[in-house]
Amino acid sequence: MNVLITGHSRGLGEALADIYLGRGDGVFGVSRTPLQREHGSLTQVSADLCATATIDAALKLLFTTRDGPDLVFLNAGILGPIAALNDTDVATLQRIMDVNVWANKLILDWLVQRPRRPQQIIAISSGASVSGNFGWGPYAMSKASLNMLIRLYAHELPDTHLTALAPGLIDTDMQSQIRTVSAVEFPSLQRLHDAQGSESMPPAQVAAEQICQCLEALKTLPSGDFIDLRKQFPIP
Ligand SMILES: NC(=O)c1ccc[n+]([C@@H]2O[C@H](COP(=O)([O-])OP(=O)(O)OC[C@H]3O[C@@H](n4cnc5c(N)ncnc54)[C@H](OP(=O)(O)O)[C@@H]3O)[C@@H](O)[C@H]2O)c1
Repeated sequence: MNVLITGHSRGLGEALADIYLGRGDGVFGVSRTPLQREHGSLTQVSADLCATATIDAALKLLFTTRDGPDLVFLNAGILGPIAALNDTDVATLQRIMDVNVWANKLILDWLVQRPRRPQQIIAISSGASVSGNFGWGPYAMSKASLNMLIRLYAHELPDTHLTALAPGLIDTDMQSQIRTVSAVEFPSLQRLHDAQGSESMPPAQVAAEQICQCLEALKTLPSGDFIDLRKQFPIP
């Protein structure tokens, strides 16, 4: 099986890459920095998903034959500033939308054109896409847009199963960034600060395993749905 993973160099994407490399699958990664692995089944390209005009060329470098990916994780994402929306300029919003939404739109367009389309696409969303907490402006709006992007592309990829998946809290660089921001100013952060080291914020390897374990079950739900992993598949 060929697995395309965006944002495979760190965090959740790196953990997903390791799982599929360990299973003997072909892993195709797109990040700005390469994953430091010597593995014959790993093919990677350095690309900045902010530079949306270069995405098509990067994908062509990654897949040089008619074979495309069977499974896709649209995982790359950036948090942007935690700040009041009225303190956030439009250029910042645009940069976050480029990585979290428009890069994924372009990858989906490329997948629509492939002679052989993937069986499953997982876009990594967030609970922030629906919670609307103070301070989460650019990230929340981008993930809400991602949810709708996936719902809409489900019509255009009728033979592929798509899910916008909120994975729950994961102890990655993104959470380290969140821990630098005061929960006094942004109260919703307190729960995240407190979750470090607890079962509710597992390391990326554990979170990636949880995601992989629910992939078949996700296919029984309507294509295009937003699914919160913690609610749909609670850990017993
Ligand atoms: N961590 C959490 O608690 C949590 C919770 C809910 C949802 N999520 C979502 O899970 C996904 C993975 O997050 P994470 O926590 O693993 O984050 P992370 O540790 O910060 O990793 C982000 C990945 O995205 C890549 N990336 C970022 N900007 C990029 C760009 N401009 N071009 C290409 N690649 C770029 C990074 O690679 P390079 O820096 O090498 O480019 C890296 O591989 C994200 O979509 C995030 O929104 C995370």
